[in-house]
Amino acid sequence: MPLTTTGELVTRARAARTAVAAFNIVTLEHLEAVVTGAESVRAPVVLQVSENAVRFRGGRVLPLARAAATAAGQAAVPVALHLDHVRGDALLRQAADAGFSSVMYDASHLPYEENLAATRAAVDRAHAQGLWIEAELGEIGGKDGTPPRDAHAPGARTDPAEARAFVEHSGVDALAVAVGSVHAMTTRTASLDHDLLGRLGTALDVPLVLHGSSGVPDEELRAAVAGGIAKVNVGTALNQALTGAIRQYLDAHPDAVDARAYLDAGRGAMARTVERILTGVGLTPA
Ligand code: G3H
Ligand code: ZN
Repeated sequence: MPLTTTGELVTRARAARTAVAAFNIVTLEHLEAVVTGAESVRAPVVLQVSENAVRFRGGRVLPLARAAATAAGQAAVPVALHLDHVRGDALLRQAADAGFSSVMYDASHLPYEENLAATRAAVDRAHAQGLWIEAELGEIGGKDGTPPRDAHAPGARTDPAEARAFVEHSGVDALAVAVGSVHAMTTRTASLDHDLLGRLGTALDVPLVLHGSSGVPDEELRAAVAGGIAKVNVGTALNQALTGAIRQYLDAHPDAVDARAYLDAGRGAMARTVERILTGVGLTPA
C-alpha cells in the first residue's frame, strides 16, 4: 500500500470518531513489529521517530526514515511517517525530504509567549514543506528521562482558553494536550481528566493528541478517544516488551551469541503489544 500521510489518517479517524495509534520506533525491530502488529489486526498506524531516537542513531535520520518509508510502502495497511518531539530546526528542515508527512514541534518547556513564537515559526517552516504539524501546550512530563512532573500539579494541564488562542495564533494542525498522562510510565495506572478533555474538545477545532499513552489503561484510552483524542502516542510499552523478552531469552539461554534469536523474541513481543493496544483501545476497523 503506498505510504499515506498522518494528516489523512488523523482526519479520517476523527471523522469516524476514533483515533489512529502512533508508535515510536527506535530500531528496525520496532519498525517491523509495529507494521506486523498493525497488519495482523488490519489497523492503520503512524510510525514516529523522535528527535531522541535520531540522536541515538548518531544524529542521522535517513537510515531509519528510509527503512520506515520502505516498510510502509510494502505494508498491507495504511502507514504514515511522523517526526516526534522535534526541538531543533536542523531536523525540522530535513523532515519532508526524509519522507515524513508530519512533525510534532515541541516548545512546551518554554513560557507561553515563547512557546507560541517558536511554534509559529515552526508552523511556517513545516507548512512550506507541505508538512502537517502538531505542537504541545501545557507540559506532558517525563520526557528525556527527566523525573515526571506531577500531572496533577497546578499549571501542568492545558488550559482551554489559552489553547484556543495558541491554536489560532500559531496555525498548528493538531494539539498535544496535557490531561493527566505522563511520558515513560511503566505501569498503566494514569487517570485522565475527561472533563478537561471535553472542554478542550469544545474550545478547539483541531484534532487532539494524547502523549504518554503507555501509562494509560485501555478503558481510560477508550474514554479519551470517545472524548475527542484523535492520535494516541505510544512508545515506552514497546521498549518494555522488547527489553522484557530479551532479558527473559538471555536468562534462559546464558550462552546465546546469535543476536537474531533474542531480537526475534523482542520483536515478537513488541508486535503482540501493538496488537494488544490496537484491539484493547478499539483502534481496529469496525
Ligand atoms: O510522543 C511519544 C509518546 O508520547 C510516547 O509516550 O513512551 O509514555 O508511551 P510513552
Ligand atoms: Zn510524547
